Amino acid sequence: MLAIQTTDLSKDFPVGFWRPRPYRALDKLTLEVEQGETFGFLGPNGAGKTTTLKLLMQLLYPTSGRAEILGRPVGDVGVKRRIGYLPESPYFYDYLTAEELLSYFASLVGYGAAERRRRVSALLDEVGIGSERRLQLRKFSKGMLQRVGIAQAILNDPEVVFLDEPMSGLDPLGRREVRNLILSLRDRGCTVFFSSHVLADAEALCSRVAILASGRLIASGKITDIHAFQVRGWELIVAHLSGESLERHRARMRKVTAIADRQYALELPLEPGPDGLLRDLIGEGAHLVSLNPTRESLEDFFIQQVGQQEPR
Ligand SMILES: Nc1ncnc2c1ncn2[C@@H]1O[C@H](COP(=O)(O)OP(=O)(O)O)[C@@H](O)[C@H]1O
Ligand SMILES: [Mg+2]
Repeated sequence: MLAIQTTDLSKDFPVGFWRPRPYRALDKLTLEVEQGETFGFLGPNGAGKTTTLKLLMQLLYPTSGRAEILGRPVGDVGVKRRIGYLPESPYFYDYLTAEELLSYFASLVGYGAAERRRRVSALLDEVGIGSERRLQLRKFSKGMLQRVGIAQAILNDPEVVFLDEPMSGLDPLGRREVRNLILSLRDRGCTVFFSSHVLADAEALCSRVAILASGRLIASGKITDIHAFQVRGWELIVAHLSGESLERHRARMRKVTAIADRQYALELPLEPGPDGLLRDLIGEGAHLVSLNPTRESLEDFFIQQVGQQEPR
Protein backbone atom coordinates (compact mmCIF):
# COMPACT_ATOMS: atom_id res chain seq x y z
CA MET A 1 0.00 0.00 0.00
CA LEU A 2 1.24 3.49 -0.84
CA ALA A 3 1.35 6.27 1.73
CA ILE A 4 0.23 8.88 -0.77
CA GLN A 5 -1.02 8.60 -4.30
CA THR A 6 -2.36 11.29 -6.59
CA THR A 7 -3.68 10.69 -10.08
CA ASP A 8 -4.05 13.58 -12.53
CA LEU A 9 -4.84 15.83 -9.62
CA SER A 10 -5.76 19.31 -10.87
CA LYS A 11 -7.01 22.51 -9.34
CA ASP A 12 -8.34 25.62 -11.05
CA PHE A 13 -8.98 28.84 -9.18
CA PRO A 14 -11.33 31.38 -10.69
CA VAL A 15 -9.51 34.68 -11.15
CA GLY A 16 -10.77 38.07 -12.29
CA PHE A 17 -13.81 39.87 -10.95
CA TRP A 18 -15.99 40.80 -13.94
CA ARG A 19 -15.25 37.80 -16.09
CA PRO A 20 -13.74 35.11 -13.87
CA ARG A 21 -11.55 32.68 -15.78
CA PRO A 22 -10.04 29.52 -14.39
CA TYR A 23 -6.40 29.73 -13.41
CA ARG A 24 -4.72 26.31 -13.27
CA ALA A 25 -2.70 26.18 -10.02
CA LEU A 26 -2.10 22.44 -10.26
CA ASP A 27 -2.03 20.55 -13.52
CA LYS A 28 -2.53 16.76 -13.58
CA LEU A 29 -0.20 15.85 -10.75
CA THR A 30 0.50 12.13 -10.61
CA LEU A 31 2.64 11.11 -7.67
CA GLU A 32 3.36 8.06 -5.55
CA VAL A 33 4.96 8.13 -2.12
CA GLU A 34 5.87 4.85 -0.45
CA GLN A 35 5.38 4.22 3.22
CA GLY A 36 8.38 5.14 5.34
CA GLU A 37 9.76 7.56 2.76
CA THR A 38 10.89 11.09 3.52
CA PHE A 39 9.65 12.81 0.42
CA GLY A 40 10.59 16.35 -0.61
CA PHE A 41 8.05 18.30 -2.58
CA LEU A 42 10.07 21.08 -4.17
CA GLY A 43 9.29 24.10 -6.26
CA PRO A 44 9.61 27.89 -6.35
CA ASN A 45 6.98 30.16 -4.84
CA GLY A 46 3.68 29.84 -6.62
CA ALA A 47 4.48 26.39 -8.00
CA GLY A 48 1.40 24.80 -6.43
CA LYS A 49 2.89 23.05 -3.39
CA THR A 50 0.50 24.47 -0.81
CA THR A 51 -2.41 23.87 -3.16
CA THR A 52 -1.42 20.20 -3.39
CA LEU A 53 -1.11 19.86 0.37
CA LYS A 54 -4.47 21.54 0.86
CA LEU A 55 -6.04 19.14 -1.65
CA LEU A 56 -4.56 16.23 0.30
CA MET A 57 -5.92 17.72 3.55
CA GLN A 58 -9.28 18.43 1.92
CA LEU A 59 -8.99 22.11 2.69
CA LEU A 60 -9.59 22.45 -1.05
CA TYR A 61 -11.46 20.21 -3.44
CA PRO A 62 -9.91 19.19 -6.75
CA THR A 63 -11.23 20.36 -10.10
CA SER A 64 -10.40 16.89 -11.40
CA GLY A 65 -8.28 13.88 -10.53
CA ARG A 66 -7.96 11.78 -7.41
CA ALA A 67 -5.89 11.59 -4.26
CA GLU A 68 -5.47 8.75 -1.78
CA ILE A 69 -3.71 8.51 1.55
CA LEU A 70 -2.86 5.08 2.97
CA GLY A 71 -4.93 3.47 0.25
CA ARG A 72 -8.11 5.38 1.07
CA PRO A 73 -9.67 8.40 -0.64
CA VAL A 74 -8.62 11.63 1.11
CA GLY A 75 -12.11 12.15 2.48
CA ASP A 76 -11.98 8.97 4.56
CA VAL A 77 -12.44 9.82 8.26
CA GLY A 78 -10.50 6.78 9.43
CA VAL A 79 -7.44 8.07 7.57
CA LYS A 80 -7.58 11.50 9.22
CA ARG A 81 -6.82 9.81 12.53
CA ARG A 82 -3.60 8.41 11.10
CA ILE A 83 -2.10 11.58 9.63
CA GLY A 84 -0.65 14.87 10.87
CA TYR A 85 -0.43 18.28 9.16
CA LEU A 86 1.60 21.42 9.64
CA PRO A 87 0.14 24.29 7.58
CA GLU A 88 2.38 26.80 5.82
CA SER A 89 2.15 29.68 8.30
CA PRO A 90 0.51 28.17 11.34
CA TYR A 91 -1.30 30.59 13.58
CA PHE A 92 -1.99 29.68 17.18
CA TYR A 93 -3.95 31.39 19.88
CA ASP A 94 -1.40 33.83 21.34
CA TYR A 95 -2.50 33.77 24.94
CA LEU A 96 -2.24 30.04 25.47
CA THR A 97 1.00 28.47 26.61
CA ALA A 98 2.60 25.76 24.49
CA GLU A 99 1.48 23.22 27.06
CA GLU A 100 -2.11 24.43 27.08
CA LEU A 101 -2.32 24.52 23.30
CA LEU A 102 -1.03 20.98 22.84
CA SER A 103 -3.17 19.72 25.68
CA TYR A 104 -6.17 21.23 23.91
CA PHE A 105 -5.26 19.49 20.63
CA ALA A 106 -4.72 16.25 22.57
CA SER A 107 -8.22 16.51 23.98
CA LEU A 108 -9.55 16.95 20.42
CA VAL A 109 -7.83 13.71 19.46
CA GLY A 110 -9.64 12.14 22.42
CA TYR A 111 -6.86 11.39 24.90
CA GLY A 112 -7.81 11.27 28.61
CA ALA A 113 -6.26 13.63 31.16
CA ALA A 114 -3.38 11.43 32.30
CA GLU A 115 -2.46 10.36 28.75
CA ARG A 116 -2.70 13.99 27.67
CA ARG A 117 -0.24 15.15 30.30
CA ARG A 118 2.18 12.36 29.49
CA ARG A 119 2.04 12.92 25.73
CA VAL A 120 2.28 16.70 25.82
CA SER A 121 5.27 16.61 28.09
CA ALA A 122 7.05 13.97 26.00
CA LEU A 123 6.30 15.88 22.78
CA LEU A 124 7.60 19.18 24.09
CA ASP A 125 10.79 17.40 25.16
CA GLU A 126 11.07 15.88 21.73
CA VAL A 127 10.75 19.16 19.85
CA GLY A 128 13.16 20.84 22.25
CA ILE A 129 10.88 23.20 24.13
CA GLY A 130 12.01 23.28 27.75
CA SER A 131 10.79 25.54 30.52
CA GLU A 132 9.35 27.91 27.89
CA ARG A 133 6.43 25.51 27.64
CA ARG A 134 4.72 27.58 30.34
CA LEU A 135 5.12 30.85 28.40
CA GLN A 136 2.34 32.30 26.30
CA LEU A 137 2.88 31.65 22.61
CA ARG A 138 2.96 35.38 21.83
CA LYS A 139 6.39 35.40 23.46
CA PHE A 140 7.68 32.65 21.17
CA SER A 141 10.11 33.16 18.32
CA LYS A 142 9.24 31.95 14.82
CA GLY A 143 11.47 28.91 15.30
CA MET A 144 9.81 27.95 18.56
CA LEU A 145 6.34 28.37 17.07
CA GLN A 146 7.37 26.14 14.21
CA ARG A 147 8.38 23.48 16.72
CA VAL A 148 5.03 23.80 18.48
CA GLY A 149 3.45 23.38 15.05
CA ILE A 150 5.42 20.21 14.43
CA ALA A 151 4.54 18.90 17.90
CA GLN A 152 0.89 19.51 17.02
CA ALA A 153 1.35 17.62 13.73
CA ILE A 154 2.76 14.51 15.41
CA LEU A 155 0.60 14.53 18.52
CA ASN A 156 -1.44 11.51 17.45
CA ASP A 157 1.59 9.36 16.43
CA PRO A 158 0.65 9.69 12.77
CA GLU A 159 1.72 7.24 10.08
CA VAL A 160 2.00 10.03 7.52
CA VAL A 161 2.94 13.65 8.29
CA PHE A 162 2.46 16.55 5.89
CA LEU A 163 4.64 19.58 6.53
CA ASP A 164 4.23 22.71 4.41
CA GLU A 165 7.54 24.61 4.30
CA PRO A 166 8.59 23.46 7.78
CA MET A 167 11.94 25.23 7.52
CA SER A 168 10.96 28.54 6.00
CA GLY A 169 11.74 31.60 8.06
CA LEU A 170 14.10 29.72 10.35
CA ASP A 171 17.73 30.56 11.03
CA PRO A 172 20.39 27.91 10.29
CA LEU A 173 20.15 26.48 13.79
CA GLY A 174 16.37 26.26 13.58
CA ARG A 175 16.64 24.58 10.17
CA ARG A 176 18.98 22.01 11.58
CA GLU A 177 16.69 21.30 14.50
CA VAL A 178 13.70 20.81 12.23
CA ARG A 179 15.84 18.59 10.02
CA ASN A 180 16.77 16.43 12.99
CA LEU A 181 13.14 16.20 14.01
CA ILE A 182 12.19 14.98 10.55
CA LEU A 183 15.01 12.42 10.71
CA SER A 184 13.73 11.11 14.02
CA LEU A 185 10.24 10.77 12.55
CA ARG A 186 11.71 8.83 9.67
CA ASP A 187 13.64 6.58 12.04
CA ARG A 188 10.46 5.52 13.72
CA GLY A 189 8.90 4.61 10.38
CA CYS A 190 6.73 7.65 9.84
CA THR A 191 6.22 8.78 6.24
CA VAL A 192 7.13 12.46 5.91
CA PHE A 193 5.92 14.55 2.99
CA PHE A 194 7.29 18.06 3.17
CA SER A 195 7.37 21.00 0.81
CA SER A 196 10.27 23.38 0.39
CA HIS A 197 11.70 25.86 -2.09
CA VAL A 198 15.24 25.05 -0.94
CA LEU A 199 17.07 22.10 -2.50
CA ALA A 200 19.52 21.81 0.39
CA ASP A 201 16.64 21.03 2.77
CA ALA A 202 15.77 18.05 0.64
CA GLU A 203 19.32 16.91 -0.09
CA ALA A 204 19.99 16.28 3.56
CA LEU A 205 16.77 14.38 4.21
CA CYS A 206 14.97 12.86 1.31
CA SER A 207 14.87 9.48 -0.25
CA ARG A 208 13.05 11.00 -3.21
CA VAL A 209 11.80 14.35 -4.41
CA ALA A 210 9.25 15.72 -6.82
CA ILE A 211 9.82 19.08 -8.45
CA LEU A 212 6.93 21.27 -9.34
CA ALA A 213 6.99 24.47 -11.42
CA SER A 214 3.94 26.45 -12.51
CA GLY A 215 1.61 23.69 -11.35
CA ARG A 216 3.36 20.93 -13.29
CA LEU A 217 5.57 18.09 -12.22
CA ILE A 218 8.87 18.62 -14.00
CA ALA A 219 11.02 15.93 -12.40
CA SER A 220 10.82 13.27 -9.73
CA GLY A 221 12.99 10.55 -8.28
CA LYS A 222 16.15 10.33 -6.22
CA ILE A 223 18.00 13.63 -6.23
CA THR A 224 21.13 11.90 -7.48
CA ASP A 225 19.18 10.29 -10.34
CA ILE A 226 17.66 13.51 -11.59
CA HIS A 227 19.80 14.47 -14.54
CA ALA A 228 19.98 18.15 -13.69
CA PHE A 229 21.40 17.42 -10.25
CA GLN A 230 24.20 15.11 -11.31
CA VAL A 231 27.63 16.19 -10.19
CA ARG A 232 28.99 18.76 -12.68
CA GLY A 233 32.50 19.17 -11.38
CA TRP A 234 34.47 19.85 -8.25
CA GLU A 235 35.26 22.80 -6.08
CA LEU A 236 38.66 22.50 -4.49
CA ILE A 237 39.74 25.03 -1.89
CA VAL A 238 43.44 25.15 -1.10
CA ALA A 239 45.72 27.31 1.03
CA HIS A 240 49.46 27.97 0.79
CA LEU A 241 49.30 27.67 -2.98
CA SER A 242 52.28 29.36 -4.66
CA GLY A 243 51.92 31.47 -7.77
CA GLU A 244 54.25 29.16 -9.73
CA SER A 245 52.26 26.12 -8.76
CA LEU A 246 49.03 27.81 -9.82
CA GLU A 247 50.53 28.80 -13.19
CA ARG A 248 51.94 25.35 -13.85
CA HIS A 249 48.56 23.61 -13.38
CA ARG A 250 46.27 26.40 -14.58
CA ALA A 251 45.15 24.43 -17.66
CA ARG A 252 43.68 21.70 -15.47
CA MET A 253 41.30 24.16 -13.80
CA ARG A 254 38.10 25.63 -15.14
CA LYS A 255 38.14 28.71 -13.00
CA VAL A 256 40.30 30.21 -10.28
CA THR A 257 39.01 32.57 -7.60
CA ALA A 258 41.38 34.13 -5.10
CA ILE A 259 39.96 34.02 -1.57
CA ALA A 260 42.81 35.35 0.53
CA ASP A 261 46.59 35.45 0.38
CA ARG A 262 47.65 32.24 -1.38
CA GLN A 263 44.21 30.73 -0.75
CA TYR A 264 42.10 29.87 -3.78
CA ALA A 265 38.84 28.27 -4.84
CA LEU A 266 39.53 26.13 -7.89
CA GLU A 267 36.76 24.86 -10.12
CA LEU A 268 37.70 21.56 -11.70
CA PRO A 269 35.99 19.62 -14.47
CA LEU A 270 34.20 16.39 -13.57
CA GLU A 271 36.83 14.34 -15.45
CA PRO A 272 39.56 13.29 -14.73
CA GLY A 273 38.52 13.86 -11.11
CA PRO A 274 40.34 15.95 -8.53
CA ASP A 275 42.74 13.31 -7.14
CA GLY A 276 45.70 13.83 -9.45
CA LEU A 277 45.72 17.61 -9.30
CA LEU A 278 45.23 17.58 -5.55
CA ARG A 279 48.20 15.25 -5.15
CA ASP A 280 50.39 17.50 -7.32
CA LEU A 281 49.40 20.69 -5.52
CA ILE A 282 49.99 19.16 -2.10
CA GLY A 283 53.33 17.86 -3.35
CA GLU A 284 54.21 21.49 -4.14
CA GLY A 285 53.34 22.70 -0.66
CA ALA A 286 49.61 23.50 -0.83
CA HIS A 287 47.20 22.55 1.95
CA LEU A 288 43.74 21.12 1.37
CA VAL A 289 40.94 23.22 2.89
CA SER A 290 37.93 21.50 1.32
CA LEU A 291 36.79 19.51 -1.68
CA ASN A 292 33.15 19.36 -2.77
CA PRO A 293 31.21 18.11 -5.75
CA THR A 294 29.28 20.88 -7.49
CA ARG A 295 25.76 20.42 -8.79
CA GLU A 296 23.35 22.64 -10.54
CA SER A 297 21.27 24.37 -7.90
CA LEU A 298 17.52 23.98 -7.67
CA GLU A 299 17.26 27.69 -8.45
CA ASP A 300 19.21 27.28 -11.71
CA PHE A 301 17.05 24.31 -12.54
CA PHE A 302 13.84 26.24 -11.91
CA ILE A 303 14.95 29.18 -13.97
CA GLN A 304 15.94 26.96 -16.84
CA GLN A 305 12.72 24.90 -16.71
CA VAL A 306 10.38 27.83 -16.24
CA GLY A 307 12.09 29.56 -19.16
CA GLN A 308 11.41 26.55 -21.36
CA GLN A 309 7.71 26.34 -20.60
CA GLU A 310 5.25 27.67 -23.09
CA PRO A 311 3.15 30.50 -21.65
CA ARG A 312 -0.31 29.58 -20.47
N1 LIG B 1 -7.38 30.71 -3.30
C1 LIG B 1 -6.71 31.05 -4.42
N2 LIG B 1 -7.28 31.77 -5.39
C2 LIG B 1 -6.62 32.10 -6.53
N3 LIG B 1 -5.36 31.70 -6.79
C3 LIG B 1 -4.72 30.99 -5.86
C4 LIG B 1 -5.36 30.60 -4.63
N4 LIG B 1 -4.47 29.86 -3.89
C5 LIG B 1 -3.34 29.80 -4.64
N5 LIG B 1 -3.49 30.46 -5.81
C6 LIG B 1 -2.49 30.56 -6.88
O1 LIG B 1 -2.08 29.26 -7.24
C7 LIG B 1 -0.69 29.22 -7.49
C8 LIG B 1 -0.03 28.18 -6.60
O2 LIG B 1 -0.01 28.66 -5.27
P1 LIG B 1 0.56 27.80 -4.04
O3 LIG B 1 -0.01 26.44 -4.09
O4 LIG B 1 0.33 28.60 -2.81
O5 LIG B 1 2.12 27.75 -4.41
P2 LIG B 1 3.37 27.37 -3.48
O6 LIG B 1 2.88 26.82 -2.20
O7 LIG B 1 4.15 26.39 -4.31
O8 LIG B 1 4.14 28.65 -3.30
C9 LIG B 1 -0.17 30.61 -7.28
O9 LIG B 1 -0.09 31.25 -8.53
C10 LIG B 1 -1.22 31.26 -6.41
O10 LIG B 1 -1.28 32.63 -6.62
MG1 LIG C 1 3.26 27.39 -0.28
